[in-house]
Amino acid sequence: MTTQTIPTFSITGADPSPALRVRNLVVRYGRGKDAIHAVDRVDVDVSRGRTLGIIGESGSGKSTLVKAISGLAPVSEGTIEIISNSGTLRPASSSIGRGGQVQMIFQDPVLALNALRPVWQSVAEPMEPGRLITPRRLRADAVELLGQVGLGPEIADRRPTHMSGGQRQRVTIARAVASRAPLVMCDEPVAALDISLQAGVLKLLDDLRTKLKLTYVFISHDMTSIARIAHDVGVMYLGQLVEVGPVNEVLKRPRHPYTQALIRAVPRIRANAARMVPLEGEIPDARRPPSGCRFRTRCPFAQEICAQEKPQNEVLDDRTVDGRRHVTACHFWREIRDGKANYREESL
Ligand SMILES: Nc1ncnc2c1ncn2[C@@H]1O[C@H](COP(=O)(O)OP(=O)(O)O)[C@@H](O)[C@H]1O
Ligand code: SF4
Ligand SMILES: [Mg+2]
Repeated sequence: MTTQTIPTFSITGADPSPALRVRNLVVRYGRGKDAIHAVDRVDVDVSRGRTLGIIGESGSGKSTLVKAISGLAPVSEGTIEIISNSGTLRPASSSIGRGGQVQMIFQDPVLALNALRPVWQSVAEPMEPGRLITPRRLRADAVELLGQVGLGPEIADRRPTHMSGGQRQRVTIARAVASRAPLVMCDEPVAALDISLQAGVLKLLDDLRTKLKLTYVFISHDMTSIARIAHDVGVMYLGQLVEVGPVNEVLKRPRHPYTQALIRAVPRIRANAARMVPLEGEIPDARRPPSGCRFRTRCPFAQEICAQEKPQNEVLDDRTVDGRRHVTACHFWREIRDGKANYREESL
C-alpha cells in the first residue's frame, strides 16, 4: 500500500461540485502570548448538497469554525470561499442573515428567536427583503414553511416561550431555510433537546437538505448524531483537524488515536473497541498548545518525534470511497492499525 502526503486536509481532491472551500483558516482571539488560536490552520471541503459533520470535545474550536464561515467570528488568516452556481463569493459579516449565502442554526433556540414576537414573524423576517408582498401573504408563506417543518398553523401566533424545546428548534430551522441561503451551519442543533426528540429533528434537517438542495456543516460533540446525519466527518482537536473521511469509513476504521478514543466512548457504534484506547485527561489550555502533535499529552502512543514534529496529513488511499479520501495526521497510524505501536502507560 502507498500513502500520499497532502498539504491540505482535503477530503475531496478535485471536487466537481464544491459548495464551500476553507483553506488555512486561523481564528485568533486576543494578542501576544496569551492569544487563543481557537481555529489553527484548518482546511474544510464540503460538496454541494452534502453534510460535513465536525466532531470534537468542548473547546476544540467547532463553534468558532462555523462562526468564521458565517462571518460571526474574525478571520485572522486564510480564505473562506462559498461557491454559488453563479460564481465565487467570500463571506464577510454581511453574508449572514438577510439575503445571505450562509445561515446558522444554534444549539439554543430561545436565543435565536425574538421572545416578544409571534413565531411566524421570526420565520417571515428573512423572507422579506426585496419582496413586494402584503403582510397577509408574508404570513401565509411563513405558515406554509412552518408546515414544512411539521408545525401546524395553530403554532404561528404563539410566542417562543409558549412552545416546547423541540417546537422552538423547528421554528429556528424554518427561519434558517426561509432566507434560501444554500449553506447552513448547524451548531449542535439537537444537543439541548430531549433524546426522544433528537431523531425527529435530525430527520427533518436531512429531508430539508434533499428537498431544498442545501449543504450543511453539522457540529456535534455526539458521535451518534454525526453518524445519523453526516456524509463525511472531520475530527477536531484543539483548533486543528486530525482526521477526515467518509463517515462510515471513519467510524469503522478510525486511524487517529483521538478519533478512536471518541468512538470507544460510544458503545453503540464502536468497532474493534478493544484495540482503542480510552480518552483520559483534559483538553490542554488553548493558549499554550503542546508542540508537535497537539494530542501528545493525552496519547498513549506518543514518542519523542510527536513532541518535535507536527504530523503530516496522509491519505489512506486504500480506502477511498466514491473518490472521497480518508486523511489523518498521526506519525504512527500504521503501527497503531497493525497493533505494533509502542504503548505507554503515561504519555509525554
Ligand atoms: N469570543 C471568544 N473570545 C475568546 N476566546 C474564545 C471566544 N470564543 C471561543 N473562545 C475560545 O476558543 C476555544 C474554542 O472554543 P469553541 O469554538 O467554542 O469550541 P467548541 O465549540 O468546540 O466547544 C476555547 O478555548 C474557547 O474558550
Ligand atoms: S502517536 Fe504521536 S502523532 Fe499520533 S496521535 Fe499520538 S502523539 Fe499524535
Ligand atoms: Mg461549541
